[in-house]
Amino acid sequence: MNQMVVILDFGGQYNQLIARRVRECGVYCEVMPYNVPMERITEKNPIGIIFTGGPNSIYLESSPKCDPAVFELGVPVLGICYGIQTMAYLLGGHVTSPDSREYGKTDTYYDTTCPLFRGVPAQAISWMSHTDYVDTIPAGFRVTAHTNTCPTAAMENAEKRLYGLQFHPEVLHTQHGSEMLHNFLYEVCGAKGDWTMGNYAETAIRSLREKIGGGKVLLALSGGVDSSVAAALLSRAVGSQLTCIFVNHGLMRKNEGDEVEAAFGGRELNFVRVNAEERFLKKLAGVSEPEHKRKIIGEEFIRVFEEEAKKIGTVDFLAQGTIYPDVIESGTGDAAVIKSHHNVGGLPDYVDFKEIVEPLRLLFKDEVRRLGLELGLPEYLVWRQPFPGPGLAIRVIGEITKEKLDTLRDADAIFREEIARAGLDRSVNQYFAVLTSMRSVGVMGDGRTYDYTLALRGVTTTDFMTADWARIPYDVLEHISNRIINEVRGINRIVYDITSKPPATIEWE
Ligand code: XMP
Repeated sequence: MNQMVVILDFGGQYNQLIARRVRECGVYCEVMPYNVPMERITEKNPIGIIFTGGPNSIYLESSPKCDPAVFELGVPVLGICYGIQTMAYLLGGHVTSPDSREYGKTDTYYDTTCPLFRGVPAQAISWMSHTDYVDTIPAGFRVTAHTNTCPTAAMENAEKRLYGLQFHPEVLHTQHGSEMLHNFLYEVCGAKGDWTMGNYAETAIRSLREKIGGGKVLLALSGGVDSSVAAALLSRAVGSQLTCIFVNHGLMRKNEGDEVEAAFGGRELNFVRVNAEERFLKKLAGVSEPEHKRKIIGEEFIRVFEEEAKKIGTVDFLAQGTIYPDVIESGTGDAAVIKSHHNVGGLPDYVDFKEIVEPLRLLFKDEVRRLGLELGLPEYLVWRQPFPGPGLAIRVIGEITKEKLDTLRDADAIFREEIARAGLDRSVNQYFAVLTSMRSVGVMGDGRTYDYTLALRGVTTTDFMTADWARIPYDVLEHISNRIINEVRGINRIVYDITSKPPATIEWE
């Protein structure tokens, strides 16, 4: 059993970031809604509890408040931003709402005798984002940091091991913020640092073996990071009891099908590759509306998968690559919302199985990648950027043909190769080419051309809900443009997409 920290979510924007920081410190944690019943916390036997920030003012009737019994558990608590205000309010202190807010990088003065600030300089920058602040600390507390405008940038009750920070230690703008979290975990909570991917792999393999026993497992392998890592983990746990079905719908990027096969060919599992290009292209012929394309691909995928699954007969478990951000219960809203995520919509209804297994359910994306490397998957699979289920079908605008797909595949491969060569493949979070299906006039050699316009798209984003267009250097773009025009037939004009999301979306369709 890993030591664990409970993060109580009050609805702030950095909740998942706090959880990731804690795990980066080698400590397992889970995010729970602020109003979770105390028993659900105590049954986890946490070594510490962290309150996140939140958008509300504590004195509003409707603002989230947790059960004050949380301070009587004898477990250390760290309140961040709205969390420090909640702590002060519930323990008899006072929070004030001034007219002005304190926002951004702020000079902060620390009392370095406080264990949280051990090894931190007496003055450094912290990241503030608040209006309200604690102006009267509760009995038994002392102030351990302040700024020029905020008298209580931090407070502690060392005896009860209760700590509060008005600023955000989890964001990179706070200098020494990760040391502060590390100090809370190791100096105050007594963490041992037992959350490592090596450990996780071992434990997960053991518990998968226990759960699956001699049963058969079926997994839809897309070649994306999550399903690939799930396959690698399951194959280590149960070997040839696992069957992976990889449906190549003909809408993959260049060489992708072979790369996926190469990565799994040597492992102990049953790898079924279905080459269904013709089938998909036939269904898509003459279709140009994006949602219609998606629907056709989704339905055809299920049909192909179902046919293959039938050949295997009844399976005991259907495996899915669900990851932690998909299952976190949100702390705000009238009811706790649990997002459910199926890698392939509707599959469970069509396949005969007894139970679902989700071996990545506890992991963040960066942890999934680390686990993949731990399990020996190649870097190109582990660092693969997100790729939509409908594939290149939504990157050829309008009607799809095999020729257009091949043109796009060649251009996209050059774009990706050059982005990697320029060392931008980790900083630009998603990048791809789009065949616009619009033609324009050009001149090549001595002749007139009338060919397609290709659009390049590169975005930076953390959650893919909002995104900014990536500032790829002009000389890199120039080189990419020259190569594509010279090496790919049928394209005579290249544009770079400079819209953010919103108002645009990341994909063009
Ligand atoms: P948009 O275009 O909505 O994309 O800004 C956000 C993210 O979702 C991916 N995306 C999809 N993924 N099926 C998928 O599995 C889809 O139909 C789909 N459409 C968009 C997109 O690549 C980006 O990462």
